[in-house]
Amino acid sequence: MTAARTAPVAAVIVLAAGEGTRMRSATPKVLHAIGGRTLLGHVLAATGTLNPDHLAVVIGHGREAVAEHLAAVAPKAQPVVQEEQHGTGHAVRVALEALPPLTGTVVVVAGDTPLLTAETLSGLVAAHASAGAAATVLSAVLDDPAGYGRVLRAPDGSVAGIVEQKDADDHQRAVREVNSGMYAFGAAELAAALAKLTRDNAQGEEYLTDVLGILRAQGRPVAAVAAEDPHEILGVNDRAQLAEAGRLLRDRVVRRWMREGVTVVDPATTWIDVDVELHRDAVVQPHTQLLGKTLVATGAEVGPDTTLRDCLVGEGAHVRRCDADRAVVGPQASVGPFTYLRPGTVLGPGSRAGAYVELKNAVVGEGSKVPHLSYVGDAEIGVGSNIGAATVFVNYDGVAKHHTTIGDHVRIGSDTMLVAPLEVGDGAYTAAGSVITEDVPPGAMAVGRARQRVIEGWVERKRGGTASAEAARTAREAAGQDGTRSAGGSGEAEE
Ligand code: UD1
Ligand code: CA
Repeated sequence: MTAARTAPVAAVIVLAAGEGTRMRSATPKVLHAIGGRTLLGHVLAATGTLNPDHLAVVIGHGREAVAEHLAAVAPKAQPVVQEEQHGTGHAVRVALEALPPLTGTVVVVAGDTPLLTAETLSGLVAAHASAGAAATVLSAVLDDPAGYGRVLRAPDGSVAGIVEQKDADDHQRAVREVNSGMYAFGAAELAAALAKLTRDNAQGEEYLTDVLGILRAQGRPVAAVAAEDPHEILGVNDRAQLAEAGRLLRDRVVRRWMREGVTVVDPATTWIDVDVELHRDAVVQPHTQLLGKTLVATGAEVGPDTTLRDCLVGEGAHVRRCDADRAVVGPQASVGPFTYLRPGTVLGPGSRAGAYVELKNAVVGEGSKVPHLSYVGDAEIGVGSNIGAATVFVNYDGVAKHHTTIGDHVRIGSDTMLVAPLEVGDGAYTAAGSVITEDVPPGAMAVGRARQRVIEGWVERKRGGTASAEAARTAREAAGQDGTRSAGGSGEAEE
């Protein structure tokens, strides 16, 4: 099997022009995604290691969107437009016409089989080469073969051809060895056989599958190699199969990370996209989604109930019950529970973003803390500072966003409104409940609120007969008996 890596491949043709009717979607089928990658993206990733001279992708339905996606994820791929979709054989014929004359092996895969692996494709190419076959199909033996083409074998076990489910008789439908839709062909044999295809079948299409029967009738050797893991050939034709493929893919990814030394407490509720990176001894708690290009470093713990997209979590950091997008959590930092980290959040080493805290475009210095109920937007906070509970960085004046800079070892009092643009110098304090609209110099205490007034006896005078008035009277009388307080409230203060 390893020899496959060196077997040269003249071209890979990916079939992605079909409508995907059964998806019932405005999005072309091959652009639906699982594990953070489109179906087409998964197939392209698997074919990449074959290192073909040509990579052609046949597009048709939703061609603008598919071509645009292709340019982004596989700029070397050559899109080939199949104007009208007359079947898989027609699609391959159109692709060959767009490519220069080929010699050697041509690999054909479908764009809707996202679980295919590079190893299996290499194995297919190797088996094709060692059998000296004109065509080799990757097959799989399924408990439920419904919907797939069936591989027909002659009494001597050799491959006689493939029959589509819709064209099969009862005897043929009972066959459990199915066509994966992936093949290796000799280029010349393929081109010659494609020229002989008819549309004389249940779907009125040119079936690529008929190529095998045609070659066999010409006396050319045709082979089949069964995939070790039949899951790999799962074709996505509807939303249920999309979800099933997603589940199988997640399983595969989670198992890989556990083998690499990551603790996944509950694999069933852990979603890890294919491009995520986890370092040894990272811990993933239940109900956690690690998406995009997220990285979790050694000894960091994420979850439970956490969704991180394109985030970096540093060594030994702890992130729980958090939703974060494009945020950086420094080493040993602590986040959560119930924390929302938006793009541009950078939490320094050992810093903290606590419960019911939202940060956006905000840099928090080493050891600084935003522990409770706060919004920090468009800000930079130095080292060792504390942002009191319920502080709001008021960054929006209704038209534009403004920036706030907080120095080192600052103490922002609880419930402070920091109205940007604003600078609070090193070592400064703000009084709780302040609305701070002007810069605060280093070391100053800024107070921005009305002084408290106390109107003695107001409740008994204005709310007589209420439970509050009764409680006030009881307290006043008790104080009077103790002699610790004056009777008070008798008209000294007026409203
Ligand atoms: C095909 C095979 C079937 C196999 C199954 C595996 C044929 C006739 N049948 O059936 O034996 O078991 O795949 O999943 O080949 N496409 C084009 N242009 C077209 C038609 C299709 O590009 O004119 C593309 C589709 O976008 C898709 C792929 O070819 O990516 C397969 O087509 P689909 O209609 O899904 O074929 P199946 O009915 O699944
Ligand atoms: Ca299919």
